[in-house]
Amino acid sequence: MEAKMIQFDDSKKQFYLHTKNTTYAMGVFQDELLVHLYWGKRLHHGMENPYEKEMGRRDYTPWDYPSFYSSDVFPLEFSTYGSADLRRPAFHANYKDGSSITKLFYKDHVITQGKEKLTGLPATYCEPGDSVQTLVIRLHDELKNIDVFLSYTVFEELDAITRSVKVVNHGERMKIDTIMSAMVDFYGMEDSDVIHLDGAWARERMITRTRVVKGNQNVESRCGASSHMHNPFIAICDKNATEKSGNVYGLNLVYSGNFTAGIELSSHNCGRTYIGINPFQFKWVLEEGESFQTPEAVLVYSSEGIGGMSRIYHKLYRTRLCRGKYRDLGRFVLINNWEATYFDFDEDKIVEIAKKASEIGIDTMVLDDGWFSVRNDDTCGLGDWYENKTKLPNGLEGLSKRINDLGMHFGLWFEPEMVSPGSNLYKKHPDWILHTPGRKPTIGRFQYILDLSRKDVCDYIIEFLSGILARANLEYVKWDMNRYMTEVGSALLPPERQCEVMHRYMLGLYYVLETITSRFPNVLFEGCAGGGGRFDAGMLHYMPQIWTSDDSDAVERMEIQYGTSLVYPYSAMGAHVSACPNHQVGRTTPFNKRCNVAMPGQFGFELDLNKCTEGEIEIAKEAIAQYRELQEVFHKGECYRLRSPFESNLAAIEFVSEDRQTVVLSIESKKATPNAVDEYIRLEGLDASALYQCGDDIYGGDYLMYKGTHFKNNIEHNSVLQIYKKVL
Ligand code: DGJ
Repeated sequence: MEAKMIQFDDSKKQFYLHTKNTTYAMGVFQDELLVHLYWGKRLHHGMENPYEKEMGRRDYTPWDYPSFYSSDVFPLEFSTYGSADLRRPAFHANYKDGSSITKLFYKDHVITQGKEKLTGLPATYCEPGDSVQTLVIRLHDELKNIDVFLSYTVFEELDAITRSVKVVNHGERMKIDTIMSAMVDFYGMEDSDVIHLDGAWARERMITRTRVVKGNQNVESRCGASSHMHNPFIAICDKNATEKSGNVYGLNLVYSGNFTAGIELSSHNCGRTYIGINPFQFKWVLEEGESFQTPEAVLVYSSEGIGGMSRIYHKLYRTRLCRGKYRDLGRFVLINNWEATYFDFDEDKIVEIAKKASEIGIDTMVLDDGWFSVRNDDTCGLGDWYENKTKLPNGLEGLSKRINDLGMHFGLWFEPEMVSPGSNLYKKHPDWILHTPGRKPTIGRFQYILDLSRKDVCDYIIEFLSGILARANLEYVKWDMNRYMTEVGSALLPPERQCEVMHRYMLGLYYVLETITSRFPNVLFEGCAGGGGRFDAGMLHYMPQIWTSDDSDAVERMEIQYGTSLVYPYSAMGAHVSACPNHQVGRTTPFNKRCNVAMPGQFGFELDLNKCTEGEIEIAKEAIAQYRELQEVFHKGECYRLRSPFESNLAAIEFVSEDRQTVVLSIESKKATPNAVDEYIRLEGLDASALYQCGDDIYGGDYLMYKGTHFKNNIEHNSVLQIYKKVL
C-alpha cells in the first residue's frame, strides 16, 4: 500500500487513515453500509476480505433482505436507530411524520489537505507545513433527504485523528435526539478495561479503572459544564495495559458542556465506544436547509500504554489546540490574593502582597473575587462590574498603576456568566437568566446564571469586559464560573427549542471567548470553574491554562494533577503554593514540597508572603528561579508517569526536554514508613548509551532506566527534584 495519510481503495471501497504509528480503516459494504474495519497499530497492507468473519446472520437478529446482512452484527462507523442494529445509536432523530427511523448509506467522499475550522466551536487546527489531511464521508438518507457528513482529520506526525459530524437537512422539519461526535465499534473488547476521570469539587479527575463488562458503562455530565464529577474522556485499554505497555484507545471531547462517553459491550462482544453531546435534555430542531455541527472528538491510540496515549494528547493540545501569544511562551509566575485575603482586602493590602512577591521574582499580581460592587462575601455583586470604592479608592487604574510600578503585570478575576439576585443588572434584566416559566430559579452560591444562549446577553458581556480590559491595563484574566445549571430555559426561545438551551449556551460562551480573546491578544486568560469544573479541551482552545482545583493541598494535588495529566498537559494546569495549615484539608506540609508539587504546572503562589518565615521566603525565591530554568522542560518536554499516587505512597513524574538533553524527575511521598525499604524508580525515555549528570554524580542512561534512581520512603512528605543533564 502506498504510504499516504488518507487512502481510498476504489476497487475494495476501503478507507485507510494513517498517522505515524496508527491506522484507522473503514469499508463501504455492498456499496452502501459504512463499516468500521480497524483502529490500532499501523498497518502496512490493505485488507483482502475484512467482512467475511463478521458478516452473516445470527440467531434472532434481523437482517436486510435480499442482501442478507445484518447491521446488528457489523462493527459500524456511525449507527442509526430504526433498522437491524439494535445497539446504542450514534444518531437518532424524529421526523415530521412521527417516525424516528434513519437509514444512512454511503454517498460520496472528499479528501483535502489541512483542516477546516469548525464554525462556532473550539477544535484542533493545523498550521502551514503540517502533515494533515481531512476526509469527509457523506452518508445519505434517501427517504428523509438528510446528509450526514463524517469528518476525519489525520494529524500524521502528532499521531492523532479527530472526528466530527455535520447533519444537513434537505427534507422537512426534524428533531435531532442523539448525535455522537464519534463512535468506534471493536470486537475483542471483552478482555479490556475502561478508564475515566471522576471526582467532585476540590477532588477532580481521580482515575477510575474497571473491567469492560456486558452492557453499557457510561460517564456523563448533565449540569451544563463538563463538570468536576466526570471529564469528557474515556479510554479503553488491554486489561493488563500499564503506563508503559499495552493497547490504549482514548476518546476526548473538545467541549465544555453536557457530554456522554462510554462503551456498550454487546452480547456478541462488540464494544461500541462513543462520545458526544449528552442526549439527555438535548433536542435540536432542524428546519429544511438548516444544519447541525457536533463538537470535535479526539481519538488517540497508543501501543505504548497509558503514558503513550497521554504524551500524544499533551503535544497535540499544547501545539494544535491551545492558541495565541502565550501558547509557546514561558508564562507568568503569579501571586493570587484569594487564599491570602478572601474578600477582606483593600488597595494597600494588595500592594503589600504584590511588593513582597515582586522582591522574590514573582511577575504578576492577580486580584481575585471581591473587587467590585458591594461584594464583601459571595452573596452579592455579580453583574455590577464597577470597582468597590471602599476597597479600591483609586479604581482599577490606580491599583493597576501601583502594581505596574513594581514592575509587575496586573491580572483580574471575573465571573462574567453570573449575576447576583440583588444586583442592578438582575433588577434591570430579570429575564436575562436561565429560567423556566412559573418556576422559582434555584440559587447556587447565591447566584443565577446569565442566559448565554441569547446574543444580547453575550454582547453585553463582551462590551463590559472590553471596557475594563482596555482601561485597567490588564494582562491576565481569571475567568471563573461557580455553579451548575438548574431550571434551564431561555426567555427568547419557543417551547419546541427549549431543549437546545444548554448547547446554545456553550455556543454563546464560545462566541464570547472567541471575540474577547481575539480582541485582547496580549491578555493571558486562565479558565476556572470552582477550580477544575470545566477543565476540558474546549476551554483550552481559548485559554491555555485552567485553575486545576480549589484544593491547593500538596498531597491532594499529587493525585489531582496526576489524574489530570492522563489527558491534559502540565502546561495547562494552574498550580499554586498556598499557606498551611491548608485551607481545604487542614494539613501541614513542608514549604519546599508545596513548591515542588506546584512547579511542573503553571507555577504561582496563593498566600501572603509577608506572613512567611525568612526560611520559607528563601525557598520560594529559589523555587521561582528553578522554575524559570525548568519551565520549558515541564511545559514542552515529554512527561512520563513513573509512580502513581493512586497505587502507591509516591507520585514520581519525569519530564524529558524537547532536545532530550535535560531530564527532571519529581518524586513526592505522602507518609513515611518506619524501617523503610529501598526503592528504585526507573526512568524512561533516556538515551541508553548516554551519560547523565545529576549534581556531582554521573550515571549511564541505561543504569537509570534499567536499575533506577534510589529513593527511601523514610521522611514524611518527602519531596525530591532531581535534574539530570546529558553529558555525553
Ligand atoms: C472559585 C475559584 O476556584 C477560586 O480560586 C476563587 O477564585 C473563588 N472562586 C472566588 O470566588
